[in-house]
Amino acid sequence: MSSSTPEETAPYGGAPTPAATAATAIAPIKRVRTHHLRELKQRGERFSMLTSYDQLTAQIFDEAGIELLLVGDSASNNVLGNTTSLPVTVDELIPLTRAVSRSVSRAMVVGDLPFGSYQASPEQGYLTAVRFMKEGGAHCVKLEGGVEMAPQIEKMVQGGIPVMAHIGFTPQSEHTLGGYRVQGRGEAAERVMRDALAVQEAGAFAVVMEMVPGDVAAEVTARLEIPTIGIGAGNQCDGQVLVWQDAFGLRTGKLPRFVKQYADLRSVLLDAARAYDSEVKDGSFPAPEHTF
Ligand code: KIV
Repeated sequence: MSSSTPEETAPYGGAPTPAATAATAIAPIKRVRTHHLRELKQRGERFSMLTSYDQLTAQIFDEAGIELLLVGDSASNNVLGNTTSLPVTVDELIPLTRAVSRSVSRAMVVGDLPFGSYQASPEQGYLTAVRFMKEGGAHCVKLEGGVEMAPQIEKMVQGGIPVMAHIGFTPQSEHTLGGYRVQGRGEAAERVMRDALAVQEAGAFAVVMEMVPGDVAAEVTARLEIPTIGIGAGNQCDGQVLVWQDAFGLRTGKLPRFVKQYADLRSVLLDAARAYDSEVKDGSFPAPEHTF
């Protein structure tokens, strides 16, 4: 049974047009829930997801209207100094998840289950997911895998935890998949479809598709009732996700082709840090107005 209030049950945002009647007016979403995402899909409306790992970006992205904030295992190589997502632990991700969940008022917060914390058995997965919900304040969890993860998804969903699946290229299996490669080309498209149907059948409320050809992702999106979220999967998915440091230019160097940079934050920060350094060293900061 949903515990949402009447105004939360209105599917999505946008002020009603003057011609809209009371019956057709759409109230804004107060707090994003899984049913809103499905309703958006049914109405052909897109939604967005970004990673976030801290209080201030969570507040900014929430204010911007991003529906889903993913406290990704990509914190490993965007926050914690590793080169891949493999080393990050549950104990490292939970405080980041808690910071994000405490900082949003509208976005749904997705806790990402790290490598090794759910693959061993449905019981292991369930207990890890419970930690993300109870200690991290996550509103749902994400795990990587398709057909083979159906038992884990079923167990979590039966235990009251909404699950987002992640198929196609799954970074935690980088070494099994032979590196960062597009998944689902040619005959392998069937595998992507099988995985998508399996996670839907198991009870996932949404599925991320990473590095999947656009036409395959479009077919999966059309076939599934649950929303698809693309990253390197073309523009026919129901939603899109990017790692924020990639999208807003904090990270430099070679980025995947699917990333679009909306800002160049690295340059902004570098210039600011250099200006501060130089003013400290030439004695012009702090000035009288900064002094008690
Ligand atoms: O951890 C992460 O950032 C992710 C996205 C790439 C979907 O899983």
